[in-house]
Amino acid sequence: MTQALSVGITALGTYVPSKVVTNHDLAQLVETSDEWIVTRTGIRERHFSAEDEFASHMAIHATENMIAKHGSAVLDGVDLVILATSTPDALLPATAAIVQNHFKLKAGAFDVIAACPGWMYALSAAAAYVKSGMAKKVLTIGSDALSKILNWEDRGTLVLFGDGACAAIVEAVPEGYGFKSFVLGADGEGAKHLNMRCINTTLPDGSPLTEKVSMNGREVFKFAVRVMSSATREAVAQAGMRLEEIAYFVPHQANFRIIDAARSSLELPLDKVVSNVERYGNTSAASVGIAMREALDDGRIKDGDDLLLVSFGAGLSWASSVLRWHVKTF
Ligand code: ACO
Repeated sequence: MTQALSVGITALGTYVPSKVVTNHDLAQLVETSDEWIVTRTGIRERHFSAEDEFASHMAIHATENMIAKHGSAVLDGVDLVILATSTPDALLPATAAIVQNHFKLKAGAFDVIAACPGWMYALSAAAAYVKSGMAKKVLTIGSDALSKILNWEDRGTLVLFGDGACAAIVEAVPEGYGFKSFVLGADGEGAKHLNMRCINTTLPDGSPLTEKVSMNGREVFKFAVRVMSSATREAVAQAGMRLEEIAYFVPHQANFRIIDAARSSLELPLDKVVSNVERYGNTSAASVGIAMREALDDGRIKDGDDLLLVSFGAGLSWASSVLRWHVKTF
């Protein structure tokens, strides 16, 4: 990212459904225990959407939360909506268009499907649109209702996920602020480790796709630890920085053991790591945004802080970025 225009996030809102599901609740459904889930993942509870609550509803609530935090002018001039999700309301239309219509925005709208790193892919696309001049202000959303696509009999996946959304404005920021790097990666060889059927019933190699999410937890775990460290190092190097200069490491909240293994391999102190996986589980495309918002709300992230965002997921895929936080008054 060498062009002169600096682009960053100027507003951020989040939403999680009101229904809290504890580990004890899940232990009523499958053979598991609070002790097993906490020890293996760090997760204690998560939020599940209501029966009639989908990605578009959560995206709209997250955008309303952004308006509540930053003021009603925050949506003025939005000319593009990008929404990352693996659980769109429908295949047609794009969930982004439902959000566009709700807020009556004079904007284009499309969805991004890139699993858990989807919001980071969306941020990179938004930044590129603004840098190129093709858009000025992009409403960039991550919204996922993974509870709707889980196999409720599979304890290996059921305990890991929660629902939620985040909504951000990506636009020009003062020089020196904003995104300093983006690293995007994918390895489709790993498709077999984490997938779910849509129209086709098999992967290209003929292996069957299941009706609900299926995952080889051990393989994804190893991949995640490896890629969280390497993608972090790459994003920091691409930004021309050193790891010690990063104020906060804001990783995808999938499993605290994954976060801590990456932290340890990067030799980062624990107080630089933002983690709330304990209360939300893995909210997929929303997870980095929800973690970032909490660290803003509790005063940890301040104007001028350099943040390292990193995520991974199905694909297999990953994304990382260095972002210098800018506080804008609307
Ligand atoms: N409760 C009790 N026992 C369980 C549970 C559970 N909820 N889940 C699995 N087990 C059992 C397994 O059946 C296995 O039993 P066995 O030895 O008799 O076969 C045993 O526990 C150990 O299983 P492992 O898979 O080795 O356990 P591990 O320590 O690897 O933890 C976990 C499993 C938590 C799933 C871990 O592998 C993990 O977090 N992987 C990464 C998952 C992830 O982050 N996915 C998100 C991808 S993001 C996206 O794009 C959707």
